[in-house]
Amino acid sequence: MSLKDRLNNSAKKAELTDGADLGAFMGDVPLSKEFSDLKEKLHGLLVDKVNTTPDWSQYNDNEQKNLIRQFIEYQINTNFRSIPLNKIERDRLIREIIQEAKGFGPLDPLLADPSISDILVNGAKNVYVEKNGKLYKTSITFKDNHHLRNIIERIVSKVGRRIDEKSPMVDARLPDGSRVNAIIPPLAIDGPSLSIRRFRADSGTMESLLKWGSVSAEIAQVLEAAVAARLNIVISGGTGAGKTTLLNSLSAKIPNTERIITIEDSAELALQQEHVVRLETRPANIEGEGQVSARDLVINSLRMRPDRIIIGECRGAETLDMLQAMNTGHDGSLTTLHANSPRDALSRLETMVMFSGIDLPERNIKSQIASAINIIIQVSRLSDGTRKVTKVSEIVGMEGDVITMQDIFVWEQTGTGVNKVMGMHSSTGIRPKFLDKIVAKGIEINPQIFDKSYRHTYLTKNGNTSPMPSTPVAAANKTRDEIVKGTTLNVDLLKRLKR
Ligand SMILES: Nc1ncnc2c1ncn2[C@@H]1O[C@H](COP(=O)(O)OP(=O)(O)OP(=O)(O)O)[C@@H](O)[C@H]1O
Ligand SMILES: [Mg+2]
Repeated sequence: MSLKDRLNNSAKKAELTDGADLGAFMGDVPLSKEFSDLKEKLHGLLVDKVNTTPDWSQYNDNEQKNLIRQFIEYQINTNFRSIPLNKIERDRLIREIIQEAKGFGPLDPLLADPSISDILVNGAKNVYVEKNGKLYKTSITFKDNHHLRNIIERIVSKVGRRIDEKSPMVDARLPDGSRVNAIIPPLAIDGPSLSIRRFRADSGTMESLLKWGSVSAEIAQVLEAAVAARLNIVISGGTGAGKTTLLNSLSAKIPNTERIITIEDSAELALQQEHVVRLETRPANIEGEGQVSARDLVINSLRMRPDRIIIGECRGAETLDMLQAMNTGHDGSLTTLHANSPRDALSRLETMVMFSGIDLPERNIKSQIASAINIIIQVSRLSDGTRKVTKVSEIVGMEGDVITMQDIFVWEQTGTGVNKVMGMHSSTGIRPKFLDKIVAKGIEINPQIFDKSYRHTYLTKNGNTSPMPSTPVAAANKTRDEIVKGTTLNVDLLKRLKR
């Protein structure tokens, strides 16, 4: 049996757990022993060659790749001539050696596929991906845990971090903005584990959220107006529910004239405005020194004459400083937090204020929250993998010891289709108090959209808006102009979304 046959045979075995089409990277079948032995030998020779080439680092990336290609071709044609390889095998060998040497090895094809949102590696033999909101197991494997560990080291060292027994956990961000977490033994019991969270290439605008049916055109309009009118907004949701993505889309509506300061644990926000200062927290070093917390950065940012402060995610003591900033003129601030409902978000805020160690009476904390925050947006990941804004709630004030809140928009599930959750956004019939602030800014909003009987509109497949389709369909290949041109209803709404 030729090497090619063996490769083809193993291709048949490489099946997905549920038969989904995972695209090209599933075509790269597990390696046969001969193939990986040859690859390893060539890799060893390459390492020797690179180590004995003194000016190697002076070549740029492309030059290095070309040199590697020439070196491997030369080796195959001379020292390894006895091993017959056809063109496909040869190309794969060269491609994989270059990936090993220059890229992230077996992860490269996954990283190159823009439709994959998460890459999750649990030890050398289990690689999962999230695609279209669903998790699949791939046939991609690493040779062993040592190989995986090498790739993890390469990933984290590229962004100036390191991982070893002394600091076995790393949170970092790749040059393309993807977020990476790696954790290795002894903390990870069954071998190194790597989680890569990528952002959809087309995310970051309200238009994308509209296309995906995550918000209705009316909700998008109100939320964008709220940002422009400098309301303080908290986005609440579970892990991976789309909080950061919504935060990114909303912050796109901050006027270009404002000075924005962002504070994040690992910088994920991609603001388009010119006047942005991005701050990132720093973990303590091995000696336990040098930590710079989000709280330190919030306090510092107040001395930087900010027009807006955006905190990527509120996790602890910085909450108190954020609330105080919101209450002392730094309005228009945006943040996210982990909570399952707007009411839950309020209790999370209270708990996090207590982390600051300042002993404030409970009522005092509550009234700070009530006067600081205007809107809580709840985002959720539904069982079909889609992400929706499921509630937009307004904080009205205090009644006795209770913070009063009213829902303005809600998502209502109407049924379940095949692998699909059906539903729609609707208005609760309450006209929000914050509307005054929006109107005062000169932004017009049709008050009827808050009526209970109002039917929300979505973008549909042909780019038109339509009232309440139960499954909003992406207007995937349409430009915004085409969408706006084809619009029969609520043309104004969509035009206003135009940036
Ligand atoms: N509305 C959406 N529709 C489809 N996919 C989305 C949507 N919002 C976010 N995503 C995708 O879901 C993944 C998680 O998004 P995001 O990082 O914004 O969530 P998060 O709530 O901030 O997560 P975390 O809790 O880890 O901070 C990303 O891959 C993103 O591209
Ligand atoms: Mg996030």
